Amino acid sequence: MTEDWWRHAAIYQIYPRSFADGDGDGVGDITGIRARLPYLRELGIDAVWLSPWYTSPQADAGYDVADYRDIDPLFGTLADAEAFIHEAHDHAIRVIVDIVPNHCSDRHPWFQAALAAGPGSPERELFWFRPGRGEHGELPPNDWQSNFGGPAWTRVPDGQWYLHMFAPEQPDWNWDNPRVREDFERTLRFWLDRGVDGFRIDVADNLVKDPNLPDVATLPDGAVMPWGDQEGVHEIYREWRKIADSYPQRAIFVGEVWLPDPVRFTRFLRPDELHTGFNFAFLSAPWEPAELRRTIDATLSTHALVHAPATWVLSNHDVPRVVTRYGRAQTAHTWESSKTAHVADLALGTRRARAAALLTTSLPGSVYVYQGEELGLPEVQDIPEELLADPRWIRSGHTDRGRDGCRVPLPWSGDAPPFGFGPAGSTPWLPQPPGWAALTAEAEADDPGSTLSLYRSALRIRHAEPDLLGEDMEWLPSSGNVLAYRRGRIGCMINFADPPVPLPVGAQVLLTSEPVDGDLLPTDVAAWFRLP
Ligand code: GLC
Repeated sequence: MTEDWWRHAAIYQIYPRSFADGDGDGVGDITGIRARLPYLRELGIDAVWLSPWYTSPQADAGYDVADYRDIDPLFGTLADAEAFIHEAHDHAIRVIVDIVPNHCSDRHPWFQAALAAGPGSPERELFWFRPGRGEHGELPPNDWQSNFGGPAWTRVPDGQWYLHMFAPEQPDWNWDNPRVREDFERTLRFWLDRGVDGFRIDVADNLVKDPNLPDVATLPDGAVMPWGDQEGVHEIYREWRKIADSYPQRAIFVGEVWLPDPVRFTRFLRPDELHTGFNFAFLSAPWEPAELRRTIDATLSTHALVHAPATWVLSNHDVPRVVTRYGRAQTAHTWESSKTAHVADLALGTRRARAAALLTTSLPGSVYVYQGEELGLPEVQDIPEELLADPRWIRSGHTDRGRDGCRVPLPWSGDAPPFGFGPAGSTPWLPQPPGWAALTAEAEADDPGSTLSLYRSALRIRHAEPDLLGEDMEWLPSSGNVLAYRRGRIGCMINFADPPVPLPVGAQVLLTSEPVDGDLLPTDVAAWFRLP
């Protein structure tokens, strides 16, 4: 395994609570993950990224961390995590863990100490405590809104308010305070000492705030938001990079950076900062050739400025599953559209998602596969309201159904829930649709036409063809309904509309996303081929 593995890795996102449940409590765990390592090995991925497994009251499914250096009993023990990292390496799978530096849990001992210590104390300096506005301080300190809805401030009994850009159970750290910096460096070293190969950084651009905490209503259009993308955040990552580079495994960072401006985004990927960042521009793009091509070109040209490899991402644990999104009238991802259910043609969405799989796995850079994407799972749009667990649902006053529909536990085997997710008789924390019997890993493994088989083939070819792991890519001439490009001697072509289009003369087909008759590529089908 070479040092620049991350420049072209296929990385599988494990969402631990929904991956595999070893102890039968309805929630996935490390025992479950360990048992599925052979499956991951066979899929052909190079690394896994695990969403948080740390001690947490689970107010935001583990993104509210109470102890960054221990494992939540829901998922297992620290010894289980260590054993898992070891075994993953034995399977030639690298391990990327999630780090959540913008905020912690309100149960974190340092936040509890801050509450107890009162206004003006050094303990409160670790967070953003401020007096309120209004005659009696009854109004929040500024007009910032939480990402989950409602004000970004909550008042404590002594009258002060604290900042939380997400749920009230997730107070924001004050990164201007050196103790916060030191503690996170300790956390990085803690996991590096245990052999992890990288960190996925949660809301990576938000750590540093404009200390004046200005109202956003007063800012000019297009201004950089005062809670994100501040100059000082880059200094933090330069320090982190030095730490990661000082370890033999030369661990990598992948940033969750949702910034509309691609050039500002790639500033996080300068050679002494993060290695890569999730390509949310691509994730948000509609299933439309011109838009996809524009996004791919913008991605590659802006990443080239900093010599960073691109990433290709179709979905994750925060957005609707791609099979459903591509089957809707509006195929772009927007936060507005993800609030509610929409009619979706799943056969169409599946066909497009399969073509998209051959797109993302053949573009230059690293590719992410969110658990279940390889099975072609759809979004579950009809979870009963009383079972919705995402804080977005409550915080939005029940106007945003939240992200649970993409977090339903995976179907592994059998004809009925829990589909092998947990032991027979266990009840998964979210209900699985009965129709998932056809989408279990077991059912798909035996079916050469399944989405699982398609992913396995694509990842196998990707590994076997050095041209697909390089950096070169060149568009081939095509009509506006087609995307066609070459990676050295390997070509990829996707047809987005009628009529079917011929493959290049002399092309030797390697893989297609649907069965193809002759050399004509039908609508919403992708092909890989060897060029003459
Ligand atoms: C990131 C995570 C999301 C979480 C939020 C707050 O966006 O991906 O799941 O709710 O950060 O930590």
